[in-house]
Amino acid sequence: MRTQVGIVGAGPAGLLLSHLLARAGIESVVLEARSREYVQQRVRAGVLEHPTVELLREVGLADRLDREGMAHQGISLRFEGVDHRIDFADLVGRGITVYGQQEVVKDLIAARFADGGDLRFEVSDVALDGLADAPVISYTDSGGQRRELRCDAVAGCDGFHGISRGAYAPAVFDREYPYAWLGILAKAAPTQHELAYSHHRNGFALYSMRSPEITRLYLQVPPDTDIADWPDTRIWDELAIRHAAEGFTLNEGPVLEKGVTGIRSFVAEPMRHGRLFLAGDAAHIVPPTGAKGMNLAIADVRVLAEALTAYLTRGEESGVDAYSDTCLRRVWRAEHFSWWMTSMLHVAPDGDAFTRRLQLSQLHYTVSSRAAATSLAENYTGLPYA
Ligand code: FAD
Ligand code: PHB
Repeated sequence: MRTQVGIVGAGPAGLLLSHLLARAGIESVVLEARSREYVQQRVRAGVLEHPTVELLREVGLADRLDREGMAHQGISLRFEGVDHRIDFADLVGRGITVYGQQEVVKDLIAARFADGGDLRFEVSDVALDGLADAPVISYTDSGGQRRELRCDAVAGCDGFHGISRGAYAPAVFDREYPYAWLGILAKAAPTQHELAYSHHRNGFALYSMRSPEITRLYLQVPPDTDIADWPDTRIWDELAIRHAAEGFTLNEGPVLEKGVTGIRSFVAEPMRHGRLFLAGDAAHIVPPTGAKGMNLAIADVRVLAEALTAYLTRGEESGVDAYSDTCLRRVWRAEHFSWWMTSMLHVAPDGDAFTRRLQLSQLHYTVSSRAAATSLAENYTGLPYA
């Protein structure tokens, strides 16, 4: 079988790329290791930056997002028991939208099927060959049949643990952090309508939400944390301690989902090898503190869709040649911002009194200087696409 673009992975990157290419008249096939149900239920990111929302609107994917997404005009930085609001609307004239990643994925899958898109779930043993000039993707389909897909280009959108990046030897820039995030989704109405990033002596905590009935909460924990050591009562107690502030109450409720995620910074350069183009987590990871992971994946495929369209319809190579450099400029800005937010808010296990005073100084400066707050707001709500 033949297609123009073979896409490995049906996360936000692979699905949106397939949608954008279809709008430009380019055929693609998406190969996904998991089932449709699994990818639609996987709880991950929740913050859409402004350019992401604008793009989804522009390409007809925002009907439900506009109805159900929660528009936020600011966030709180909470430390020493006091809330300090960063007012995005005032500082940069734009905000963010809270809308779960799995809702974006559901909307994308529904749109692809409605348009006759070719998405193949539960494939295994995906392998890439001929990447220099005649790519072939071989895989085993959900019925156990070995198949070959010939294409003009391959998009490696298979996340951090995918196989695409292993098809060549990119330079790798990596940083692990001495902490992880324990996240829960709870059936409890949020008691405040914006996110709070809390810096506390016991560690960082994040207060987020998914809907007027569901809260999403995170705690900084050691990287080797066994979730079995964190019964729900311990989680709620620790959340109450770290988020404590005047006028704040924590609403408890049944825990619907919980898990521990390691955090890291990672960039593979370049993001292209012959006719293979990496996008999203396959090429880069940011710690979640800046809420940038899914937004970067979407920014990559916006550039890639345009570059592949020019190449496959008009033979123009300038876009595909510039793809990696164009994306990496935004990626490194987000890497810096995410690292900065992470370092300012978390408590390092070996953190001494000097580090702690530096963090508090940075927090005070960020909430009291308009220039510093504007920089945070500009990065958090998403820098305009180049
Ligand atoms: P993914 O969403 O990872 O999609 C890749 C897809 O490829 C998956 O569906 C996978 O099943 C598939 N795949 C993998 N290997 C193969 C293969 N060999 N063959 C076929 N298919 C394959 N970001 C935030 O901003 N906030 C958060 O709270 C947050 N939480 C996260 C929690 C976890 C556990 C993880 C892993 C990430 C989290 N992120 C978070 C990051 C954010 O979710 C990602 O940046 C985003 O999912 C990137 O989208 P993607 O399409 O590039 O990759
Ligand atoms: C989330 O709601 O899951 C969320 C929000 C902000 C972050 C990370 C995760 O920085």
